[in-house]
Amino acid sequence: MKTPNNKPIVLITAGPTREAIDPVRFISNHSSGKMGYAIAGAFLEKGFDVVLVSGPVNISLSHPGLTVIPVNSADEMYAACQPYFSIACVAVFAAAVADYKPAQVYSQKMKKSAYEFSLQMVKNVDIACEFGKIKRNDQLSIGFALETNDEEQNALKKLYTKNLDLIVLNSVQDKGATFGYDTNKITIINRDFQFQSFPLKNKAEVAKDIVAAAIKLYQQPEKPAQA
Ligand code: CTP
Repeated sequence: MKTPNNKPIVLITAGPTREAIDPVRFISNHSSGKMGYAIAGAFLEKGFDVVLVSGPVNISLSHPGLTVIPVNSADEMYAACQPYFSIACVAVFAAAVADYKPAQVYSQKMKKSAYEFSLQMVKNVDIACEFGKIKRNDQLSIGFALETNDEEQNALKKLYTKNLDLIVLNSVQDKGATFGYDTNKITIINRDFQFQSFPLKNKAEVAKDIVAAAIKLYQQPEKPAQA
């Protein structure tokens, strides 16, 4: 798939999502967006055009081949990806999407009253999983698995349930990896159960490893069997 300037497109989700409770409050997580933005940079360096659908982050990246679409919630992120998924050759789901959102968004600031307060939450759309259902054989998708335990087993489950081609595993047990750090330590797993483990590296270098793995797989004459 190519853009009007004849470059292949990569769709990337990055950063956290914010799920509104009322006009002044939300539920979110500690994702900095650094990994997703670094992957965008690495694909741009390789000559791809990138559409980066980003939750709120403190990073600015500009490049003639880059389109950044800022979003807040998971629903917004999913909607923003829709026009681009079918024209992308690679989709990278690097966002830390909130799994749940408040069942009801209050239109006015909630006032405190009772001693206890509970919030009903409903499941958010699983963006990687939804696009996994419509992914074509000429497209690649890459996801992330951030795990605290049973890392490989959980990552493999995500690889298959979301119909991904590669999953990037990182464990919160690894020092210097995950949220907020400038470094990461990853294992890339493919659908043939091949594990490629890397040492702790700067996120820019990690991004290059991920992009190299994606390009290698994309250039393979026969892509692995799809779910
Ligand atoms: N993901 C997504 N949409 C969601 C949840 C996750 O696109 N609503 C993507 C993430 O961007 C990541 C992968 O799915 O690439 C795995 O995300 P993760 O949060 O590790 O897994 P979950 O599926 O949310 O499962 P759990 O929280 O139970 O580990």
